[in-house]
Amino acid sequence: MKTIFSGIQPSGDLTIGNYFGAIKSWLKLQGEYNCFFCIVDLHAITVRQEPKKLREKILEVLAIYIACGIDPEKNNLFIQSHVPFHSELSWILNCYTYMGELSRMTQYKEKSLKVGESIPVGLFTYPVLMASDILLYNTDLVPVGSDQKQHLELARDIAERFNTLYSPTFKIPEPYIVENSSRIMSLQNPVKKMSKSDENENSYIKIMDDENVIKRKILKSVTDSKGVVSYNDDQSGIKNLINILISITGESVESVENRFLGKGYGDLKNELVEALLSELIPIQQKVRDFLKNKDYLEKVYKDGANSASEVSYKVLRKVKKKIGFI
Ligand code: TYM
Repeated sequence: MKTIFSGIQPSGDLTIGNYFGAIKSWLKLQGEYNCFFCIVDLHAITVRQEPKKLREKILEVLAIYIACGIDPEKNNLFIQSHVPFHSELSWILNCYTYMGELSRMTQYKEKSLKVGESIPVGLFTYPVLMASDILLYNTDLVPVGSDQKQHLELARDIAERFNTLYSPTFKIPEPYIVENSSRIMSLQNPVKKMSKSDENENSYIKIMDDENVIKRKILKSVTDSKGVVSYNDDQSGIKNLINILISITGESVESVENRFLGKGYGDLKNELVEALLSELIPIQQKVRDFLKNKDYLEKVYKDGANSASEVSYKVLRKVKKKIGFI
């Protein structure tokens, strides 16, 4: 069986961007692959986190994974910091990664602008940690949104460099990116990616948002003055709403365009609200139920860490031998 690795940062409330860009793909692929789905807490501390909130969010992300339908019996669900090999390989791979490569990372450029003058080193070296996450598991496939594509290419470059310097050690991972759901855009500025760290709350929908909040955010979303439900780059707001709708229904773009011939943006928004509610409300109820059962969550993440450690330990040991460590 081939292997999948993917993860989400518990750095805030998960959005429907995380859901459609990542979790939905995981749901589709689980069963066909040996999957490692991680809660990447080490990544989250590249920007300041409030300890109490971080603790809550880590468990909430785990509850969300399970509530969405990721089966802990069939997949490995674990918390990144529980498997120390991630940090260890990350240090090693830091020594095989160039400053120039990391300086070119778009996400670093954007995030470092936001934090001002005191940029934590972790924010700069974060893609090396991500490469380590992936490479530790002999990963074949990495299902992510398109914003992570550049980081994945770097992971491939680092792996190839290491393999060439020594001998084949790391498997070279492939991205898995689903076109229509790989980049859900901000509802207020649809040329920008929807992000959980956006200052404008109306720009994103959280998986856990209340029914009336979801409704309000969709109805308020920015569109254009053309008045035709058409999928094109000049109508980025409408394009985004169609992308969200078809990420839920699986319908084709053409079919949506045909169904809305002669209809207005309000009709599209109303239909989208209904679709989102029927997708998210049952998940929210399950999340709340799982969060009441901390013992169960603890069992899941402990079992997950044990099986993740077994696999990653072997890869790390091989790496250390190749380098010349005793
Ligand atoms: P993060 O936590 O920012 O996002 C988690 C996943 O959600 C996807 N995503 C989106 N997809 C579509 N539209 C959006 N608006 C949107 N926003 C987020 C992301 O592409 C990602 O797949 N570095 C990663 C986490 C990570 C990781 C890994 C992923 C750490 N190690 C190893 C894969 C493999 C991150 O910050 O994702």
